[in-house]
Amino acid sequence: MIKDKVLDGKHVLIGVCGGIAAYKIPDLISRLTKLGAEVKVIMTKSAAEFVTPLTFQSMSHNPVAVDLFSEPVAWEIRHISLAQWADVMLIAPATANMIGKIANGIADDMLSTTAMAVRAPVLCAPAMNTAMYENAATQENLETLKRRGVLVIDPDSGHLACGDSGKGKLAPVETLLDEILCASAFSKDFAGKKLMVTAGATVEAVDPVRFLTNHSSGKMGIEIARAARWRGAEVTLVCGAVSEEVPRGVKTVHIQSAREMFEACTSRQKEMDVIIKAAAVADFRPAQTAEHKIKKEGAEFCGEIRLEQNPDILAYLGEHKPSGQILVGFCMETQNLLENARKKLERKNLDFIAANSLTELGAGFAADTNTVTVLDRDGSIEALPNMSKFCVAQHLLDRVRACL
Ligand code: CTP
Repeated sequence: MIKDKVLDGKHVLIGVCGGIAAYKIPDLISRLTKLGAEVKVIMTKSAAEFVTPLTFQSMSHNPVAVDLFSEPVAWEIRHISLAQWADVMLIAPATANMIGKIANGIADDMLSTTAMAVRAPVLCAPAMNTAMYENAATQENLETLKRRGVLVIDPDSGHLACGDSGKGKLAPVETLLDEILCASAFSKDFAGKKLMVTAGATVEAVDPVRFLTNHSSGKMGIEIARAARWRGAEVTLVCGAVSEEVPRGVKTVHIQSAREMFEACTSRQKEMDVIIKAAAVADFRPAQTAEHKIKKEGAEFCGEIRLEQNPDILAYLGEHKPSGQILVGFCMETQNLLENARKKLERKNLDFIAANSLTELGAGFAADTNTVTVLDRDGSIEALPNMSKFCVAQHLLDRVRACL
């Protein structure tokens, strides 16, 4: 997950209702403040039975609002000022009672009153017993909220505090954070655009047990997918072997071999506005994949593996590029970085290429940071300083946006 201060200056208002999952919200607040957000909390009176207002006050470094009529600033109408202050509001855990109140326009406490006055995006994360969640009244109320533009973050299934098993667990903090970021941190400058990105290493089978691959972690492609989704793109991630979790909200196509990646990319090329190839594709594969495990002894293994070349996916995409499509490649080298990058840019018919050297400190496969130099078709060269892979992704997307 990203560590950059992407929520710097953003105001996040959290409404906590009376449910056991309220204990997870301090962790969310901590994560939000680390990303630079200012957080304020409103609790219902029943929420204060589960977690004390002091906990939220200490985590957010702000007073916590519980009671509609205990105004800390005499002249201020608190539910209105909090509503106006918010860049985004999350209600979590949202109880059946609070969902029902908001859906039906009932405003009789600090939280429901504020929710009614908020003009910023409102997110609602239900958490309750499965039967209550599945109850027709709750479901209809949630549908009403969705119709009115509230983003409902579905609960998970699992073992519930009441002892039942089923749907109703508050969505993970990671998910709540992701949706807050998506709703508030980025302009939606890729709205309506379809973007495909490849990530990770291809895996070329020698036999059912062994394979040839490379050290790619997939982090760079995954950060591009994440950033593009947060900026409003409809993202398809063609994903080889990766060491990271794939981001939420992107359509992920899992592949193993370069030939599978070729198929996944070329069959979708026409529908894409943007394609970014960050994957480390194996240039060669074993000419034959043994059907059974190759044994140390015996006739099957002759002491060498004959290789044949994989298709160059990016070169094919460059050759068949529809007009208006933006095609971006990566280039990983250990020597003659710029010279090789320029050749690949031209040979593969790219709009631009992001070149990085494996020998650079804080760059390369497994690192969270990267140092890339971007080469354009018009001959310009931009050397970016070392930065997180998420920030590199943002820079590349800024460039793509300018080309679109
Ligand atoms: N690429 C591809 N298909 C291949 C090889 C590479 O699509 N079979 C793409 C990569 O995803 C990357 C770009 O081409 O965006 C450059 O990859 P790189 O490995 O740096 O270069 P190659 O073209 O493979 O050339 P070489 O290995 O000789 O440096």
